[in-house]
Amino acid sequence: MAGEKVLVIIDDKEDAVQLMTESVLRPHGYSYIVANNGEEGFRLALEKEPDLIITDLRTPKMSGLEILETLQAEGRDIPVILMTLHGSEETAVQAFRLGAKDYVIKPFKVEEMLEAIDRVLAEKRRMSKGMRDVDQQLARRVKELNILYGVGKSVTSLLDLEKVLNRIVEAAVFVTGAEEGSLLLVDKDTRELYLRAARNLGEKFARGFRLKVEHSIAGQVVKTGQPILQSTQDEETLKVKTGYLVKSLVNVPLKAKDEVIGVLAVNNKISSMPFTDNDVHLLSALADYATIAIVNAQLYEETKRWSEELEHKVEERTRELRATQEQLLQSEKLASIGQLAAGVAHEINNPMGVILGFAQGILKTLPEDNPLRKPLTTMEKESLRCKRIVQNLLDFARHSEPTPHLININELIDTSCELVEHQISLQNVKLVKAYDPALPSIMADPSQLQQVFINIMLNAYQAMPDGGTLHITTRTVGSELQVIFTDTGPGIPPENVQNIFDPFFTTKEVGEGTGLGLSVSYGIVKAHGGDIEVESQVGKGTTFAIKLPLDKSEGDEGKID
Ligand SMILES: Nc1ncnc2c1ncn2[C@@H]1O[C@H](COP(=O)(O)OP(=O)(O)OP(=O)(O)O)[C@@H](O)[C@H]1O
Ligand SMILES: [Mg+2]
Repeated sequence: MAGEKVLVIIDDKEDAVQLMTESVLRPHGYSYIVANNGEEGFRLALEKEPDLIITDLRTPKMSGLEILETLQAEGRDIPVILMTLHGSEETAVQAFRLGAKDYVIKPFKVEEMLEAIDRVLAEKRRMSKGMRDVDQQLARRVKELNILYGVGKSVTSLLDLEKVLNRIVEAAVFVTGAEEGSLLLVDKDTRELYLRAARNLGEKFARGFRLKVEHSIAGQVVKTGQPILQSTQDEETLKVKTGYLVKSLVNVPLKAKDEVIGVLAVNNKISSMPFTDNDVHLLSALADYATIAIVNAQLYEETKRWSEELEHKVEERTRELRATQEQLLQSEKLASIGQLAAGVAHEINNPMGVILGFAQGILKTLPEDNPLRKPLTTMEKESLRCKRIVQNLLDFARHSEPTPHLININELIDTSCELVEHQISLQNVKLVKAYDPALPSIMADPSQLQQVFINIMLNAYQAMPDGGTLHITTRTVGSELQVIFTDTGPGIPPENVQNIFDPFFTTKEVGEGTGLGLSVSYGIVKAHGGDIEVESQVGKGTTFAIKLPLDKSEGDEGKID
C-alpha cells in the first residue's frame, strides 16, 4: 500500500539500489530509506521503525542473517524480505528459520519484487488488526477478571451478607453491560422466589417482588439448574413477571451442592442488545460467589448458635458439678468427723454410765431433805444430757443402717410433736398442720426419722423464743414424699446456710447447742435415699423440706436398700 515506509539495505552496487528505488518503490508510492551496509541498516531499522526491511543476504559489516538474528533478539517485529543470489537457497532456508518473511532471487523482475512486498505488507496489516482486536478483547477480559477478583475478595472479607450480595448484583450489571440486575432466593415454604438484592430495579417495584417458581423464567432455572439466555427482536418482549417485560435476559442458578437456592438475573428493558455466552459464564462465576457467601453466612449463624448452646451446656454442667462437689464435701466432712466422734463417744459412754449409775444410786438412798439431793439431781440431769449427746454422736458416726418398717409419716410427725411439746411446753408457738390424708405409707426407720423431725422442730422452737408459727405440711410430689417445716423465726443469714449441716456448727450459746442436730438428720435422711433442703430469708423465716423416695416402699417390708 502506498505510503508505507520501506528500508532498503543493499550492498554497495549502485545499479541494484537504483532498480529498487527508481523502478520498484518510488513509482508505486512507497517511501524509503537506503542504507549502504548492514550496520547502518540495523541502526536505521531501530531508529525509523520501517514497515518492511528489504536486505541483501550479503551486506557489508553485518550480514542479512545477522540483522535478522539481532532484530529477533531485540524483540523487534519488523518483516524482512531477503535478496539472495541464485545458488544460496540453503542460506535462505536458514533465514526463514530466523523469521524472514520472503526471499527473492537476484536478478529479479520488478513485478516479482512488488508482489513480495505486497504480500508481506498485507500480512502485516492483517496481523496488526488482529492484534488490536485481541488486545481489546484481552483488556476487556482483564477488566472482567479484575471485577470477579474484587467480588471474590469481598466474599471472603465482608461478613455482612447484605453488602456482599449487593456488590455481586452490581458487578453482574457492570460486566454484562445490562440495564438492571437482581438476585432472587427460593423461599422453600412458599415455593416462591423473593428479591434479596437488586440494581436499577425501581424501589417501589422491588419491595413487593415475588415470583412463583412454577410459572416464571427464573423458576425454570430453579427447576432445571440450567442458565437461560434469551433475547427478542423488534417489538417482541419477554415476560419476567406480570407487568414486567424485557427485551433480553440472562438468568443463572445459585447452586449449593445439588440444590438450587436462587437465581442471579440481568435484563435489558430498553436496549435490544442481546447477551452472549460470555455473559452467562461471567454471571455463573458471580452466582458461585453469591452461593459461597450465603452458605458461609448460614454456617456462621449455625456455628454461633452451637457455641452459644455449648456455652449454656457448660454452664449448666459446671453448676451441677459444683453442687455435687458440695455434697461430696459434706459427706466427707461427716465421715471424717464421724470416725473421730465414734472413738470419743465410745470412750465417754462407759464412764458416763458409771457416773450416772452412782448418782442415781446415791439419790435413791438419800432422804428427801438431804441438801446433797440438789447437786446430785443436777449431776443426774447433766449426765443424761451427756449421754444424749454421746448417743447422737454415735448415731451419727455409726451411719447406723436404718431398720425400716412400713410407717405412716403423718402419725410419726404427730408423735414427734408430742415429744417436742413435752420438752418445750412454755412457748407461744402456734403449730399449723397441713397433712395429706392420703399420704402413702413408706418403708423407713421410725426412730431415726423421729429423731430428724424432733431436731428440726426443736430448732424451729428455739429460733422463735418470742413465739411464732410452725407450719408442717406433708405431700407427695412425683415419686417423692415431702415433709415441710416452715417457721416464722429470724431466718438464717446466707453466709451460715452452707454450714448448718456441718457437724458442730452452732450459733447457740455454749451449753445450749452442740451443732449436731442437723448433721445427724442429714445423715439419716441420706441413708434413707432422701434429701434435706433449706430455704431461709432473714427476718421472715426458714423452711426445711425433707424429701423421701416413695418407690421402694410399698409392699417391700423390712428392707431398704
Ligand atoms: N429453724 C431455724 N431458724 C434459724 N436458725 C436455724 C434453724 N435451724 C437451724 N438453725 C441454725 O443452724 C444451726 C445448726 O443447727 P443444728 O440443729 O445442727 O445445731 P444446734 O441446734 O445449734 O445444736 P443441737 O441441735 O446439736 O442442739 C443452729 O445453731 C442455728 O444457727
Ligand atoms: Mg438443733
